[in-house]
Amino acid sequence: MVNKLSVRLGVNIDHVATLRQVRGNTTVYPDLVNVMKLAIKGGADQITIHLREDRRHIQEFDVRNITRESTVDVNLEIGATDFMTKVALKYLPDWVCLVPEKRAELTTEGGLDLFKSEHRVRKLISQVQPRGMEVSLFIDPSLRQVEQAALLGADACEFHTGKWVLLKEKRAKAKEWKRLVDAARLCHDLGMRVHAGHGLDVEHVKKIKQLPYLVELNIGHSIICDSVEKGIEKSVKQMKSLL
Ligand code: PXP
Repeated sequence: MVNKLSVRLGVNIDHVATLRQVRGNTTVYPDLVNVMKLAIKGGADQITIHLREDRRHIQEFDVRNITRESTVDVNLEIGATDFMTKVALKYLPDWVCLVPEKRAELTTEGGLDLFKSEHRVRKLISQVQPRGMEVSLFIDPSLRQVEQAALLGADACEFHTGKWVLLKEKRAKAKEWKRLVDAARLCHDLGMRVHAGHGLDVEHVKKIKQLPYLVELNIGHSIICDSVEKGIEKSVKQMKSLL
């Protein structure tokens, strides 16, 4: 057995902020800090938030509030820019996860290319690690990218599981799973932690937890959707009781 300890769960609460932002931040709900506290009560080992360049969900004040109030690790996902480096140095999350960003994308659609972004990533790592933050790099399960992550001094690779989740055809899915397994093994052999995330739901978690050396998953969308389904009956009852 490679994974003896239970896998850490980072709960990504970006989409709670999405619900607030679709009304232009004019409502006091949903209260992100309260949702964060409930997620921690449920067992979250970490709170993950992504401060996107276009601010479509998490805002800078959320980064301040979450880093201030969280009793578990905070993982801040950012693009490798000078502005985002300043944000990380100001709020000091426990982890910084570097992700690629394209303005028009629906979500983070692929991993970082650590060859194209080599200089920006190296610079950011050299600025945040001395301040006590650990750095994970969100990459596709490619051996070249894993080797480059080690050369850049990353503490962890977070493997993009989105492609594997979406594949339906059995052989193609098995091939992508093998890429994940090989990348995870190399990541561990090169002294980095193995993280994974994107698009994971309860079905895929049953399998992904078998990934060799996996220590952490970051999951958002499926948990937030599930919590709406589990909670709406109670919320409607409350409103109905007032009528
Ligand atoms: N990990 C990273 C680096 C991400 O960018 C995201 C999406 O914001 C996630 C994990 C979570 O993905 P999902 O919301 O699909 O569970």
